[in-house]
Amino acid sequence: SRVVKLAVIPGDGIGPEVVAEAEKVLDAVTATSDVTFDKTRFSLGAARYLETGDTLTDDDLQAIAGHDAILLGAVGGTPGDPRLKDANIERGLLLKLRFTLDHYVNLRPSKLFPGAAGPLANPGEIDFVVVREGTEGPYVGNGGAIRTGTPHEVANETSVNTAFGVERVVRYAFDLAERRGKKLTLVHKTNVLVHAGAIWQRIVNEVAAAHPDVTVDYLHVDAATIFLVTDPSRFDVIVTDNLFGDILTDLAGAVTGGIGLAASGNINPDGAFPSMFEPVHGSAPDIAGQQKADPTAAILSVALLLDHLGLTAEAARVSAAVETDIATRTGARTTAEVGSAITALL
Ligand code: NAD
Ligand code: IPM
Ligand code: MN
Repeated sequence: SRVVKLAVIPGDGIGPEVVAEAEKVLDAVTATSDVTFDKTRFSLGAARYLETGDTLTDDDLQAIAGHDAILLGAVGGTPGDPRLKDANIERGLLLKLRFTLDHYVNLRPSKLFPGAAGPLANPGEIDFVVVREGTEGPYVGNGGAIRTGTPHEVANETSVNTAFGVERVVRYAFDLAERRGKKLTLVHKTNVLVHAGAIWQRIVNEVAAAHPDVTVDYLHVDAATIFLVTDPSRFDVIVTDNLFGDILTDLAGAVTGGIGLAASGNINPDGAFPSMFEPVHGSAPDIAGQQKADPTAAILSVALLLDHLGLTAEAARVSAAVETDIATRTGARTTAEVGSAITALL
């Protein structure tokens, strides 16, 4: 039977709480199939840094890279915690994993499940996927500051957009659109960010020529936030850069019933490196340790993981259990109660 080597990074705050439920579901859904998950747990994050001073060692990175896939909860401490000033958990751990493992597709589906308590009065059918570029943009750390702390301080953060990097993620987005509703929306800010905007628009136009069945349109990111609230059913596949994609997907989570439902995959489509699956949300220090977090995003991330590994039947069972659970939700439940309810529905 098949053995999948899974690296598990519970992380900080609500990360361990939601990962425990995701593992509950994973264990249950694979109990009856002929695939075994061989799990290795990695203690990484703000808590580990405060204990040892390590963020992500080369040994950690090498060990993680030797797995078939990664499940991550969330990492990061309370924003502004002075003890974490030099740690840079987000860059030194999360982004280092995404960059080193070449997760150039950050896949973030948004679906309004029947019964989900979204904030919109007439949402229509919401079912789209944001294909967020994962290895470039303003995230690469290309910049610097001089004369820090003086009135003449200058701080630059340069957005990096390469033809190689933009083209590969745009191709992925078109292929996905072919398999879905055949509509692709480029979101950018070409009216102001003219250099980055031009390369994105040109490459989308070029790749579009090979996909005549896919309807292509374009929105400036500010207008896209309007339509995500007023007319979200217009979207099928959105392709966008790393930073716009980050912002749009928190908004998309809120619109589809809460950030506690939003799953994601950091994908290396070539399969050269393990892909990493995690909720869109963070470590939520404001509710950590209280069993208040919704583990559904982590559980749906397991569905994405199973799908990525070709375990489509298992993935479908997890998604179906989540759908039923959302449709029948009443009253407040603890994190563990939600996980157990979904497990029971498998
Ligand atoms: P956050 O997503 O952690 O929290 C934002 C709000 O959403 C909070 O009110 C929180 O309680 C709520 N929330 C988040 N997840 C929830 C869930 N599953 N159920 C119910 N409510 C939920 O964002 P933040 O406060 O900006 O960030 C906190 C820390 O997490 C920071 O250190 C940040 O850098 C980090 N972070 C990490 C990741 C990651 O590891 N992938 C992602 C985002 C933020
Ligand atoms: C996310 C997070 C990360 C990002 C941070 C924590 C680096 O917000 O996964 O959406 O900006 O990508
Ligand atoms: Mn984010």
